[in-house]
Amino acid sequence: MYEVKIVGTGSYAPSNIISNEDMSKVVDTNDEWIKSRTGIRERRISKEENTSQLSIEAAKRALDSANLKPEDVDLIVLATLTPDCFIPSTACLVQKEIKAVNATCFDISAACTGFIYALNIASQFIKTGQHKTALVIGAEVLSKVVDWKDRNTCVLFGDGAGAAILQRSNEKGIISEYTGSDGSKGEHLECDAIPLRSFLVEEEEVTSNFVSMNGREIFKFATHVMVECINKVLQDAECSLDDIKYIIPHQANMRIIEYVCKKLKIDKEKFFINLDRYGNTSGASIAIALDEAAQQGLFNKGDKIILVGFGGGLTYGAQLIQW
Ligand code: UT7
Repeated sequence: MYEVKIVGTGSYAPSNIISNEDMSKVVDTNDEWIKSRTGIRERRISKEENTSQLSIEAAKRALDSANLKPEDVDLIVLATLTPDCFIPSTACLVQKEIKAVNATCFDISAACTGFIYALNIASQFIKTGQHKTALVIGAEVLSKVVDWKDRNTCVLFGDGAGAAILQRSNEKGIISEYTGSDGSKGEHLECDAIPLRSFLVEEEEVTSNFVSMNGREIFKFATHVMVECINKVLQDAECSLDDIKYIIPHQANMRIIEYVCKKLKIDKEKFFINLDRYGNTSGASIAIALDEAAQQGLFNKGDKIILVGFGGGLTYGAQLIQW
C-alpha cells in the first residue's frame, strides 16, 4: 500500500454576497435569529455560475497551489447534490474544461458528507496504486434546490466549491479514515429528483424538488456522530486530541460545534470556522474551510488535522491527516 498526501487546495464562491438583512426581505426572518441560532452572517448565492463552473475555478486554484498540470491528474472525484445535469457528470464537465485528459471522472452523492466520502474514495485508489494523482472536489449551487419561501431552511444554505489534490507519497498524509451511513433516518433531510413518469404510470407523483429538513433531528444526529467520528479516527491513528492542531468540521451551525467542544472538553479555537461568511455549503463546506485555513498559513508541515462531516442520507465520516 502507498501513502497518500494532500499536496494542494483551492476554493471558489460566487461574488454575490447575501446578508441576513437581505434574507429578511425574502422571508419572515431577522439577523438576530439567524446569528444566534446558527452563527451565519452572510452567504454567497450564484446568479450566473452553475456547479461545474464553481468547481472548475476551485480545481484550477488547487492545481496551481500543488504546482501541477491538469494532465498530471488521473482521477477526478466530485461530490455534489446539485449537479448541472444528470449526464454528463459534473466531474466530466470539469475534466473537459480544465483539459485533465488522463483522468477517470465521476460524481458521488453523500450530501454534506460528500467531500469526506470523495476524499476517502480517492485515497483508496491511490493507496492501492490504481491512481497516482487525484483531484477531489466538493461543490454546490444549493440555491437551485432551496425553497425560498421556507424560512426554516433557506437562511441556512449557500453556494461554493472547494478542491484538494491528493498524490501518492513517501510520507504519511491521510493517516486514518472513518465513514458510516444510517439510511433509516434519511427522511429527516430530503430533496426529490424525478418521480416515475413513463407511459406505464397512470398518475404522476407530484414532487417538490426542494430541500426539506427536520432541523432538530439533524442537530441531534450531528452532535452524536461528530463526537463518534473524531474519537474513531483518533483511536485508529493512536493519537489524542492534544496531538491535533485543527479540526475542520462541516460548517452547518455554530451551536453544533459548541456542543461538540463541550462533549470533547476542548476549546472552540481548535475548530476552524467560516460558516459565518458562507452559511452551509453542504458538500463544499469542508473543502472551502480546508483551503481557507491552508491559505491563511495555519498549517505547518507535520501538523495533524481532523476533517469531520455529517449530512443527508444520513451520512457521516472523518479523516485524520498529517499536513
Ligand atoms: O448540513 C446538514 C444540514 N443541517 C443541519 O445541520 C441543521 C441542524 N439543525 C439546526 O441547525 C437547527 O435545528 C436549525 C438552525 C435548523 C433550527 O434551530 P432550532 O433552534 O432547532 O429552531 P426550531 O426549528 O426549533 O425553531 C424555533 C422557532 C420556531 O418558532 P416557534 O414554533 O417556536 O414559534 C420557528 O418557526 O424559530 C422559528 N424559525 C425562525 N424564526 C426566524 C425557524 N426559522 C426561522 C427563521 N427566522 N429563519
